[in-house]
Amino acid sequence: MYQDRIRMRALKDRVMSADEAATLVQDGMVVGMSGFTRAGDAKDMPVALAKRAREQPMKITLITGASLGHDSDKALTEAGLLARRLPFQVDATLRSAINRGEVMFVDQHLSETVEFLRAGQFGRLDVAVIEAVAISEDGSIVPSSSVGNSASFAILADKVIVEINLAQPVEFEGMHDIWIPGHRPHREPLPIVNVSDRVGRPTVKIPPEKIAAIIITDTPDSASTVQPADAETQAIANHLIEFFTHEVKRGRMPARLPAIQSGIGTIANAVLKGFLQSPFEHLTMYSEVLQDSTFELMDAGKMDFASGSSITVSRPMQQQVFQNLARYRDKLVLRPQEVSNHPEVIRRLGLIALNTALEADIYGNVNSTHVYGTHMMNGIGGSGDFARNASLAIFATKSVAKGGKVSSIVPMVPHVDHNEHDVDLIVTEQGLADLRTLAPRERVKLIVENCAHPAYRDLLRDYYRDALKYGGQTPHALERAYEMHIRLRDSGSMLPR
Ligand code: COA
Repeated sequence: MYQDRIRMRALKDRVMSADEAATLVQDGMVVGMSGFTRAGDAKDMPVALAKRAREQPMKITLITGASLGHDSDKALTEAGLLARRLPFQVDATLRSAINRGEVMFVDQHLSETVEFLRAGQFGRLDVAVIEAVAISEDGSIVPSSSVGNSASFAILADKVIVEINLAQPVEFEGMHDIWIPGHRPHREPLPIVNVSDRVGRPTVKIPPEKIAAIIITDTPDSASTVQPADAETQAIANHLIEFFTHEVKRGRMPARLPAIQSGIGTIANAVLKGFLQSPFEHLTMYSEVLQDSTFELMDAGKMDFASGSSITVSRPMQQQVFQNLARYRDKLVLRPQEVSNHPEVIRRLGLIALNTALEADIYGNVNSTHVYGTHMMNGIGGSGDFARNASLAIFATKSVAKGGKVSSIVPMVPHVDHNEHDVDLIVTEQGLADLRTLAPRERVKLIVENCAHPAYRDLLRDYYRDALKYGGQTPHALERAYEMHIRLRDSGSMLPR
């Protein structure tokens, strides 16, 4: 019964269809929409907006937490609605439109988007569309499976459209911790000193009169699309477990490891799952996305607590977790993404940050976003927020992609997301390179000999020998630096014929 979920009487008459609510969005507007890695996204409004834009062409700037589910970005792109899109996406149709130059994509650190909004850099936020499990007696919003940027969108927007989703369990209530920073430059410190600390309020408090429309929907979150672990991801996990065991033995890490952040995708999920077979106990997470592996570790008694901004899990895991939320209540908190990704807390907790690279170069610079250095894959997401501030920034990748035609270790990355100063450890299924405290020339041997695929090692050794002729702190033979990428572009493989 949706009536039970709108607890403020005066708001009950704001219920309308998504098509009616979509008329509140006009050409040229800036719209903030909930949704973080497919979780807690608005379900009906994107469909209604796409329909409206097909009938009456219009363009908007769409800001979300991160990626959306339900092919919403596909529908919005096909309808021609998106002029600008930020800060993250994973949709193939939108990706193509971005790479054709049709949609202006602003690839942003996920913790920073609302700072730009607050500072007025995007102009006014005209409309916020927020998925909720309920509206409480005082008109405040109870989010669902993600917080993302929803709280600040609702606070900053002129008008708020709430999608109450009956498919999302009302038991999410109480699981959120909404902390909104004060004004700069005299902002108070963010007082989180343990991953489980609650420092804000459980709901999003806004003046109820800003709620211009309430839509009722009954659609579950899209399931995550991560693939199961394979021999390579298992090998990556094994290298990392061995490394952590060694660090603990040498007294360089506490036996209860620091809290872990784990990025999106198949590799990060599989690596975290590798902890199931490890000697480590009482693990904690301070991350943005909580994937299947988080709950597998909790169920196995390996993980005590997880703080995130969204829960993005497979369909079977969704059924298990969402139907038993009470069981996880004391072990979970969902925060705004500027808090889950906050540099101050990441540095204070001394996080282990685990993210995925498309490719890394022989000196440790990492490209996570641009194929060939030109074509957007997904976006930097939160990886930069974490890598820059963690006590240990790990980048994992398989040593080759596309059936061996692409080496993930290259002479020089054609786009840098994480520079050599922020990257502590590179790991592939081949092995691991601990770059901490090493100068660029010392890193080359470790990265090439430990991490590169054997099929590419001679090419990389040959390149480095040539580069040394030119000298320097970070030697490069500039005319050859992209020869592997150029060969891939022209012949379909980085390997010489
Ligand atoms: N060149 C070209 N393509 C490459 C590549 C390279 N060097 N390395 C990987 N790929 C391709 C893979 O072939 C695969 O393509 P497919 O989908 O057509 O099969 C795709 O990239 C995904 O790679 P996969 O090996 O399956 O890893 P993943 O699912 O873990 O994703 C990233 C890897 C880098 C794309 C993903 O982690 C990402 O977008 N990261 C940036 C954002 C981030 O780190 N966020 C973390 C905090 S939110």
